[in-house]
Amino acid sequence: MRVLVIGSGGREHALVWKLAQSSKVSKIYCIPGNDGIAQQAECVQVEGNNVAGIADFAQGARIDLAVVGPETCLSDGIVDEFEKRGMAIFGPSRAAARIETSKVFAKALMKKYGVPTARFKVFESAPEAREFAGRLGALGVSLVIKADGLAAGKGVVVTDSVGEALRAIDDLMERRVFGGAGRRIVIEERLAGPEVSVLAFTDGKVILPMVPAQDHKRVFDRDQGPNTGGMGAYAPVPLVGGGLMEEVRTKILVPAVAGLAAEGHPYKGVLYAGLMLTSEGPKVIEFNARFGDPETQVILPLLESDLVEVLEATVQGRLAATGLRWKDDCAVTVVMASGGYPGRYEIGKVIQGLDRLKRHPNVTVFHAGTRREKGNWLTNGGRVLNVTAVAPTHQAAAAIAYSALEELAFAGAHYRRDIAHQVLGAGKADH
Ligand code: AMP
Ligand code: GLY
Repeated sequence: MRVLVIGSGGREHALVWKLAQSSKVSKIYCIPGNDGIAQQAECVQVEGNNVAGIADFAQGARIDLAVVGPETCLSDGIVDEFEKRGMAIFGPSRAAARIETSKVFAKALMKKYGVPTARFKVFESAPEAREFAGRLGALGVSLVIKADGLAAGKGVVVTDSVGEALRAIDDLMERRVFGGAGRRIVIEERLAGPEVSVLAFTDGKVILPMVPAQDHKRVFDRDQGPNTGGMGAYAPVPLVGGGLMEEVRTKILVPAVAGLAAEGHPYKGVLYAGLMLTSEGPKVIEFNARFGDPETQVILPLLESDLVEVLEATVQGRLAATGLRWKDDCAVTVVMASGGYPGRYEIGKVIQGLDRLKRHPNVTVFHAGTRREKGNWLTNGGRVLNVTAVAPTHQAAAAIAYSALEELAFAGAHYRRDIAHQVLGAGKADH
């Protein structure tokens, strides 16, 4: 099969890496990819990176199956465009992807179909939003303010005071710091508890959950500092045993997928439930319509099944006859980032040690933002590398990943030292 992966980060590198292991896959392309991905796939630049251009390329290159990484492509309607042309693509339609791309759509769906989530209210007027936030704040309720639309993961403000909530409303609705994404907002109650990511393959009928994973969103150790795209992850999550997984499947994934179908937007692809494990049970913080980053970098190394078979079965509505087989191992990934990320950072720093790590057993380095120039690897983004280790225990996997990181260096490099602390029993962070 000839496969196309769309995207350019560590998640897409992990997808390419896993697809390359399949005997059914003869050729992998990646649009736009990066120079790390180019070690395993032919990276192609499509001018403007638009859905029609990507579909034109796929048609010309006789691609048998395309896989979408980023949500922006889904909201641009890439799946609709491929399907219009009769080409196979893994991911939900633009309308179904609204479960991620519109918080208002997602919350209304959850309410209608009984999916547990934080209580909320939608606002289209800033004065009404301010009045509501002020009233709840006076009752001592902590609030979360969310832009309706996509805001590169930055449209959510978790607040501790009425002042902060009012500022967030102002930023989103009046100053429009995220443009049209703030035309409508969701105000919801702040939940407490550990967060986990449960991703599942679904063809719209059958749901096959993957091993649960935990992301680390804050930039510094002990969950300090601003949110990032993710500084590391581990899987599986011991906190989420078989009973809890079944509860997530029956109370969250099944009604969400059935609800989308009932609304006329059948869903296929990966449905990613970002959950908070509250004292009242698991509740949905957000849904994503795609593979998580960096969750994919720990989930796929644990997947024993042939990924391309699972993707094909999803697209063809044959998941009922497909199972997922998992390694009985643990995976930890640590993100090596540029100094200053998620704020301003410099690129073009020489990365040392990558060639040495090629011989390291149990370690895979997924490239998030690198460039190859005159025989050197250079940094080319905020998140640069994902160092993933697989071992029989989380302790061993973390130890291997961190020893591998010591082999790597570039000027200003930064990484968290406490990835998987939740399961290592030391340096517990506050939640
Ligand atoms: P989101 O972009 O929806 O994933 O939100 C970003 C982060 O904000 C989440 O990972 C949570 O840590 C936090 N968050 C979102 N909604 C809530 C909530 N209702 N209560 C507490 N924290 C939340
Ligand atoms: N790990 C968070 C995300 O993929 O959105």
